[in-house]
Amino acid sequence: MARRLRIITGIAAVVLVAGAAAGFGVAWRPSIAAIAPPRPDTFNPDLVKRGRDLAAIGNCSTCHTVRGGGNYAGGLPVPTPFGTVFSSNITPDAATGIGSWPEAAFVRAMRSGVSRDGRHLYPTFPYDHFTNVSDADDRALYAFLMTRQPVSASPPANQLSFPFNFRPLITGWKLLYFHGGDVPSNVAKGAEWNRGAYLVEGLAHCGACHTPRNALGAERVNAQFAGGEVDNWHAYALNDTSHAPVRWTADALYAYLRHGWQADHGTARGPMAEVVSNLASVPDSDVRAIAAYMADISGAPAPDGKRPADAVAQSPPAVAAQADPAGAAIYAAACASCHESKRPLPYGGVDLALSTAVTSPDPRNLANIVLAGVGAVEGERSPIMPGFAASIDDVQMAALLNYLRVRFGKRPAWNDLDKAVRDARAAQAVSVAAREAPAESSQRGKP
Ligand code: HEC
Ligand code: HEC
Ligand code: HEC
Repeated sequence: MARRLRIITGIAAVVLVAGAAAGFGVAWRPSIAAIAPPRPDTFNPDLVKRGRDLAAIGNCSTCHTVRGGGNYAGGLPVPTPFGTVFSSNITPDAATGIGSWPEAAFVRAMRSGVSRDGRHLYPTFPYDHFTNVSDADDRALYAFLMTRQPVSASPPANQLSFPFNFRPLITGWKLLYFHGGDVPSNVAKGAEWNRGAYLVEGLAHCGACHTPRNALGAERVNAQFAGGEVDNWHAYALNDTSHAPVRWTADALYAYLRHGWQADHGTARGPMAEVVSNLASVPDSDVRAIAAYMADISGAPAPDGKRPADAVAQSPPAVAAQADPAGAAIYAAACASCHESKRPLPYGGVDLALSTAVTSPDPRNLANIVLAGVGAVEGERSPIMPGFAASIDDVQMAALLNYLRVRFGKRPAWNDLDKAVRDARAAQAVSVAAREAPAESSQRGKP
């Protein structure tokens, strides 16, 4: 109820501001004249190659490619609390893509979220971060996209409820929340840190998932990296409120982002697995820069016990198995052989006392992982865990998660585990059908 009220008040504010904006004539921006699609061979191959790396850092393909559709041809449903927005076709097709866009139109879209014809774009397209991308990098991205295979495809119409389906309202949203130019810079911290800041706050848009949003979908300024939501996953806090049992260092972040797995933290799954898969083709120095910056802003460890990995793993369970005998029995039969055996990858899983899935205040990721397992990545020696959706029912699942929380998380039991398990099952059905981006390299958009 309180939340509903907040949303209604927020809408009223946006409508008022949009009205004022319309008065000032900014509700619709001028159209930029169409051009004949430039020939691919007019672009410098080095520029195109740089653009490919940048597109990977920006996850362009993840949002603009659907399974079975052409690369960058759009049509991916992106769920928001206000309805579903479908991503655009950004191939160089003149009629349905961005083939007729001059570079200036592309730069304007990245910088201020306006389409070539002057329509305001929904911030589901993370231009609140992309606005920080440099002219040189926008030029490389443009060269990369304009040399892709043109695909004729139009996305389905957005499914947004009134008033969110009224695009001019986006002007109000922009006036309230879209300011741009917020890349911290600090000469004293060195080139790597500053490069990391530029990437994290700009193209890599880490905060789009890891920062909580207000009732109107804007990132909360005073809660940067305090943990957000994406699909049915919790994007863990990465600032000093992180629940990771072991503190994230620059080296650990680098390994996790580079390989999708790190011995003290485990593996990246769900939407983060897609981020890591995109980063796989990006130069090492950029991944190191991202890691250096994130380790620094993650701040001092919380007083509630961040300890070295060994101490965490060896400390005795705070609560005995009697806490949930049904859950304990399932764990012993179905999980312990891999998670306590020190087996090497691909089948050896981390000691669950190291997993943020177990210590996080939100049980959804743990439910998602146990239901779906961890799939192998084609052509890589990646971790593998079977999914338990078919073999463990909802009641058993809730008992198991409760046991893991109390034994390994050493935190108070989660409330409403039944609902978390039901939601995870429902979301899994949807994601298998539509969302999960393929891990094949063909989808990463090699030139
Ligand atoms: C989180 C998902 C997401 C990511 C990541 C993303 N986009 Fe998009 N993008 C969208 C959505 C959704 C739209 C449509 C917005 C609308 O209809 O208002 C869009 C629209 C666009 C448009 C406007 C097209 C038009 O016809 O108006 C361009 C250009 C674009 N994206 C380029 C990119 C590039 C380049 C990248 C990577 C650097 C990228 N996008 C990453 C979701 C995303
Ligand atoms: C599309 C949404 C999305 C984006 C963009 C994203 N993340 Fe994540 N991230 C997630 C989710 C969801 C998880 C939880 C995954 C899991 O349970 O394994 C996660 C987990 C993590 C973790 C593990 C934290 C822990 O305590 O276990 C780190 C570190 C991380 N992300 C860093 C980053 C960085 C750095 C970036 C930008 C380069 C980034 N993420 C961009 C969604 C995202
Ligand atoms: C065949 C071996 C195997 C079995 C059986 C298994 N797992 Fe896993 N599990 C893995 C591997 C491998 C990973 C990925 C590497 C990692 O994260 O440690 C993993 C990852 C996880 C993670 C994510 C840890 C993190 O944060 O990265 C959780 C939670 C988990 N398993 C729980 C369970 C539970 C609960 C069961 C029993 C119902 C189970 N696993 C059964 C091998 C297994």
